[in-house]
Order: sequence, then C-alpha cells, then structure tokens
Amino acid sequence: MNEKFSRIGFILAVAGSAVGLGNAWKFPTLVGQNGGSAFILLYLILTLSVSFVIFLAEIVIGRLSESDAVNAFRKLAPNNKEKWKFAGFFMIGALLIYSFYSVVMGWILKYTVTIVVYLPKNIDESGATFNALLGNDFFVSFICFTICSLVSFYIVSKGVKNGIEKLNVWMMPALFILLLLMVAYSLSYDGFLKSLSFLLVPDFSALNKDSVLSALGLAFFTLSLGVTTIITYAASLPEKTNILTSSLSIVFINILIGIMMGLVVFTFIFEFNADPSQQGPGLIFISLTVLFAKLGIIGNILAFAFFLSLLFAAITSAISMIEPSIYYLVNSHNMTRKNAIIAIFIFTYILGVFCILGYYSKTADVFSLFGKSFFDILDYLTSNIMMPLSGIVTSIFVGFVMKKGPIEILLRPYMGKKLFNIWYVLLRYVAPFAVLVIMINQVFFS
Ligand code: TRP
Repeated sequence: MNEKFSRIGFILAVAGSAVGLGNAWKFPTLVGQNGGSAFILLYLILTLSVSFVIFLAEIVIGRLSESDAVNAFRKLAPNNKEKWKFAGFFMIGALLIYSFYSVVMGWILKYTVTIVVYLPKNIDESGATFNALLGNDFFVSFICFTICSLVSFYIVSKGVKNGIEKLNVWMMPALFILLLLMVAYSLSYDGFLKSLSFLLVPDFSALNKDSVLSALGLAFFTLSLGVTTIITYAASLPEKTNILTSSLSIVFINILIGIMMGLVVFTFIFEFNADPSQQGPGLIFISLTVLFAKLGIIGNILAFAFFLSLLFAAITSAISMIEPSIYYLVNSHNMTRKNAIIAIFIFTYILGVFCILGYYSKTADVFSLFGKSFFDILDYLTSNIMMPLSGIVTSIFVGFVMKKGPIEILLRPYMGKKLFNIWYVLLRYVAPFAVLVIMINQVFFS
C-alpha cells in the first residue's frame, strides 16, 4: 500500500513541482516579449488543449496503477508489457534536470545569503560577480550546491507524507505570502503600472509563429510533464479526490505565481529603465540585483525576500525530480528508502559536479561538447528531446494502448461524458502532433 497525500497536500505538492525557476525566468520574459496578455491567452489555450491533456493522462497512469512509473506502464499495458515498461525510464530525465537545477539552486542560496550585506552597484560589477561565481569560485558553487542537494534528499528521505507533503504545505503558502508582500510593495513605484500594462494589456500584433511554439514549450515545461513526476505523485493521490478541480487549481496556482513574479521583476525593470527583453540568469542574478541596490537597505531586504522565494520555488520542484526514481528503486527493486536515496544521490551529485566544472574556467574545456557546457547539454537533452518524446509516448499510451473502460470510470464522475470525450479526442489526435511540432522545431530550427 502506498503512502497517500492528503487532498490539499497533493495539490500543493504538484503545484510545488510546477512552480519553479521556470516561473521566475521563463514565464515573465516570454510574456513580455510576446505581447503581454495576448501571450497569456495563447498560453492558456495551449495549456488547456495540449499540456493539461497530457497532464491528466499522467495522472490517469499514476492513479490507476498506484505504482512507480516503470511498473505502471508494465501493469497498464494490455500486451507487450516488457516493452512498454521502458516508457517509465523517462524518470531519468528528471534526474538529469535535477542535476543542473540543484546547481542553480546553489547559486540562489549563495545570493540569498550574501545579498543581505552586499548588492552590486552597477551592471558591470554585477556581471563580474556572477561570472566570478561560475568561473572562479568553484569552492563556493560546490559548497552551496552540496548544501542544497543534502537538504533536498533529506526531505525526500522522510517520505511522501512526512517529507514531501509537509514541506510543500508550509513552503507553498510561504512563497505565496512573500510574493504577495513584494507585489504590495511594488505598488508604491511608478514602474508598477508600466509593469501591469506590459504583462496584462494584450498586443496581438506581437504574436507570431514563434510565440505559439514558445507558449507550447513553456506550457509543457512549467507543468513538469514528461519525466514521470506527475505519474509518481498521482500514485499517492488520495481516494475520492476530484481529479479535475484539483488539476485545474494546480494550473491556476502555476499561472498566478508566474504573473506575480513577473509583476515584481518588471516593476523594477521599468522603474530603472532597464531592458525587459533579457531572460534567464542575466535577468535575475545580474540586472535585478543592481536595481535592488538603488533602493538602499530596503533593496537588501527585498532582494533577500525575492531570492528566498526563488529558493522555495526551486526546492519544491527539485524534490519532485528525485522522488520518481527513489520510489521506483524502493517499489520495484525492494531497496530500502535509505539505499535508494544514497544511490540516486551519488548519481545526481556526480552529474551536478560536472555541471559546475563545466563553468569553472580551469576545467570548462574538458566538460564541454560541441561548444556547449555540460550544464547546457543536460538542459538541451531533457527539455528538447526527452520531455517532448515522453509526452508523445504518454498520449499514445493512454489514448490508444490502454483500455478505455477503466479510464472512463476514473474520470467520468468528475468530468461528465462530454468533457471526457473532448479530452480523449484531444489526447489522441491533437496533443501528440502538437508536441511533435515543438520538438521538431526546437531540434532542427533553433
Ligand atoms: N516546472 C518546473 C519549473 O517551472 C521545472 C520542471 C520541468 C520540473 N520539468 C520538471 C520540475 C519535472 C519537476 C519535475 O521550474
């Protein structure tokens, strides 16, 4: 018998997985670059018609099998069980994501601590500080990464209820309150109104083919699809949970937090006339810290609150990346939780150290391939190849391979006949093709 989440624990744990660094540096910038709320509208349509459809399919696999991902595919496939089980091994994608995600978490930890006393005065100094952390301060990166890794594994070692659920149940509201305070504080700046209109006033002329593809890619990434995380958490879904409303709440929380993060970030960008179109580490670690510096001591406090909220968002995602593999080793190989934790820790720790070495100036050449650092290779491999491929496999599996009866019995009470049929058609004929298109575009045309 599996350990089960409570109902609210399940919603917060999955929302905790979904809300992560993607919300902080992918969501706001893409919204900004692609016509504000016009993009949000597009993102919502694609979320509901494609990613949410696959999200529900992963929930179905987890809930009906109540098992780890490998065993789930084996159990639910009517034939060729031994072949289908390989679809469960996309869980390795989650470990690869974890390996570089925990390195970024280490940088965030370093900033959360040092930012209390030091903020860079200008962009050059800020860029130099960030680049020094990656290029020269191997030791600092390494220590911060190690602390974050140990904390993540410690939480997961406590199990679904006492570890994962407990953490999410206080950390997600804490993240929300921190962000709410920051949004409230941003209200006092002129930049806030500009930020609000930038994010919420639609400009349909800014939408193009790339916007559609970015929206779809984002919708996929932010819902943590394609690496068996949702399957694994759904295996601990409590009985009689309304699957539809819970899943919709998760999507809602995810978007809301993305918008709140965006409001805060862009208020300061506009307040100080910085460049709203940059993204990624540049936006968060380099520009934002300089902008906060202009506010004196208040800036230090805000920066601390902001990085702390990022740390919260990251850790709740990180633990959802390691749980699938640990659960698999425990469930299918009779390992003790402790041994499974040790094995997965060693695997991801080595890859994480490689990521750090890939940025460290003295070893960067050794840990790079085709001009990409080890970190970027893992990112590319997971986001552009493994996650979409697994999305396609999952929709085909639930749409065509699994028997329709049990799926209908599971979902119909919450969805009704009409909605169920719409979902089933989208799953069979829309989702796999949409994902295939993003995948081909990302691999061959960008
Ligand atoms: N959704 C997370 C974010 O927005 C990132 C993510 C992608 C993820 N795939 C995942 C998290 C798989 C957990 C598991 O940052």
